[in-house]
Amino acid sequence: MTLAAISAAITLYAENPSDTFICIETEKSSMILEAREGEVIFHHYGSKVGDPAQFKGLNSYRRADYGTDPQAYPATGGRYFNEAALTIEHPGSQWNTELEYISHHSYGVSDGVTRTCVFLEDPMTAVKVQLIYDAYRDEDVIICHSEITNGGKKDIILRNFYSSSLPVKAGRYLLTHFHGSWAREMQMTSEVLTNGIKTIETRKGVRTTHTENPSFILSLDTDSWNENYGEVIAGALAWSGNYRLSFQIDETDRLNILSGINPHASAYTLGKGETFVTPEMIYTYTDEGAGQASRNLHDWARNHGCYDSSITCPTLLNSWEGAYFDFDTRTITDMIDDVKDMGLEMFVLDDGWFGTEYPRNNSRQGLGDWEPNTAKIPEGIGYLADYAHSRGVKFGIWIEPEMVSPKSRLAKEHPEWIVGSEGREKTTIRNQWLLDLSNPEVQDFVFGIFDSTMKLAPGIDYIKWDCNRHVESFGSTHLDEQSHFWIGYTQGFYNVLRRIREKYPEVIIQACASGGGRVEYGALKWFNEVWTSDNTEALSRVFIQYGTNMIYPASVTGSHVSAVPNHQTNNITPLKFRFDIACAGRLGMELQPKDMTEEERDLARQAITTYKEYRDLIFHGDLYRLSSPYGSDHYALMYVSKDKKRAVVFGYCIKYQARTLVPVFRLNGLDPDTRYSIKELNTEKPQFWGDGKTLEGRWLSNHGINPQLVKLYDSGIWYLEAEE
Ligand code: GLA
Repeated sequence: MTLAAISAAITLYAENPSDTFICIETEKSSMILEAREGEVIFHHYGSKVGDPAQFKGLNSYRRADYGTDPQAYPATGGRYFNEAALTIEHPGSQWNTELEYISHHSYGVSDGVTRTCVFLEDPMTAVKVQLIYDAYRDEDVIICHSEITNGGKKDIILRNFYSSSLPVKAGRYLLTHFHGSWAREMQMTSEVLTNGIKTIETRKGVRTTHTENPSFILSLDTDSWNENYGEVIAGALAWSGNYRLSFQIDETDRLNILSGINPHASAYTLGKGETFVTPEMIYTYTDEGAGQASRNLHDWARNHGCYDSSITCPTLLNSWEGAYFDFDTRTITDMIDDVKDMGLEMFVLDDGWFGTEYPRNNSRQGLGDWEPNTAKIPEGIGYLADYAHSRGVKFGIWIEPEMVSPKSRLAKEHPEWIVGSEGREKTTIRNQWLLDLSNPEVQDFVFGIFDSTMKLAPGIDYIKWDCNRHVESFGSTHLDEQSHFWIGYTQGFYNVLRRIREKYPEVIIQACASGGGRVEYGALKWFNEVWTSDNTEALSRVFIQYGTNMIYPASVTGSHVSAVPNHQTNNITPLKFRFDIACAGRLGMELQPKDMTEEERDLARQAITTYKEYRDLIFHGDLYRLSSPYGSDHYALMYVSKDKKRAVVFGYCIKYQARTLVPVFRLNGLDPDTRYSIKELNTEKPQFWGDGKTLEGRWLSNHGINPQLVKLYDSGIWYLEAEE
């Protein structure tokens, strides 16, 4: 839309004072607000509403002086007594904020994206709030955030400053969310909410998504999970720092969802005329169950939310579990040869390539001193990159630029850059400290590390950006107000990433934070993908990938085949099972290929070749979960192309089940009237009796496929193609 057209749209709305309903619409959902008697009332988020004027006069209270219907952005003060979206302290004065409706307008941002802005103000304190709603028509996603401006003459202190408030009214609220720890990310749990407050949050500052993830799926009027039926609201916050999602069922049995930056130890002073912009909260609504909620989020993520999702990330071999710190030039060039031999497309040199005075030959030293270790690789990183490129293999490299080892030159040169509380001992995690990204000097340094790494060799294709600790004993020598640290760090992180993307728009960057510590949509605006977990063991991965891909698309979740016994769990699984799990995401390998037998290499070659033929379905298709791994012996999922002409089905036996029938996976997302040919991949012994046959989509969704997956770790991949 041109500027003139935008301003015409603004004028149109502003000139129509009778237009008190504020309608935010997508293809299949509506959010309806109303400016009523000075307040902005939140009426509805759910299925499509025809004429919003039908809400006129709607009132839920017995007496007018008992309260009002929910406000769009409730503030502490007035008659509001629940946890508030906005709480403001006016030092030496009041804590009362009463926001009144000023105006609203909408305009098209791009094809299929409409922005609605609602302006509110507290006339007594001159605090102004803008509520911003971006509606993504085709994806059925609405993104909410707020902007808070101090229009008064004195500083104010923001105590609560959530991105959005979402009131929901249903008979029952089933909250599904994701929790875990290192090597056990995104374990899914569901609970029926009861009165009181439930919060999902982190206070770790960075590496924020191991313990909880800032996302949820809320099923309405039910206490059981359903993939295909029922009303569902799913949400995810785009913020790489401390967050809090708060679910409060109040005395009216209404659920009030607040989401945004965690106010914990984060009182934020806003000077005269300053504006605070909150992060985006991404919502989708569907009445077609949790599966559709995931597909909406995936579509939004791939079309709008993640950095350049149009690309298909190359398959790769990462050096970490295959070599750890113990390598020389020959180790790496041999691995690159193996990449070529097995048909992979990229080699990634992980930790251990840098440090001269304090060489990074273990995790106890060297972070911060990013010069290549010429004792280890005398020929230089450029030689390795050239070696790869000359063989048609892309080259990537690992950095962890926010960190510093106590044993490093950097720690000695810049102690003032290290996060810590004055006068107290700084704690280490994995023998390392954190650099204070709230400090612009540190931001320059971190940007410089990325920049100089890119210059180590022409055409570095990929950077793995790691982050192996979180914040403890917080504090910054740079900040006057220590409570600004948490937000300042995250804003500093984004400043660096913005500069990097301006200079390096094309390099693929992975967000790794001891595995899945940065799996959230704030990071994914800048990163192409995440390292889903340090746990590469295939059975653990079933649960980790199942949970992660509820919210985040498989196109961004790295998934590697590693050696057995697995280095994290000690479990031994067949190579085919490991490939069949990894192939359901962004495929890579992470082992020493020299240790593989010729038979294993053959299997790898075959799995990689077929993966390349169907991976566009994983990257760009629709995910249907066919069977949950929770409480079940089998797990299955499938991806269907948008035109429904092709599909790939993955099935796994994850628990041995004595003498029972074989599992049935009823397929989903296919065109009922189309006949599909079915071919099992990567095996000489098809496990489904219908292999090679052509069956109707309708039949496949009614009866499904029932392969002979009877022994623990039996698995299969089936490729479906529409008959011409
Ligand atoms: C973290 C990452 C691993 C690996 C190591 C290297 O643990 O998650 O993948 O890069 O650091 O030290």
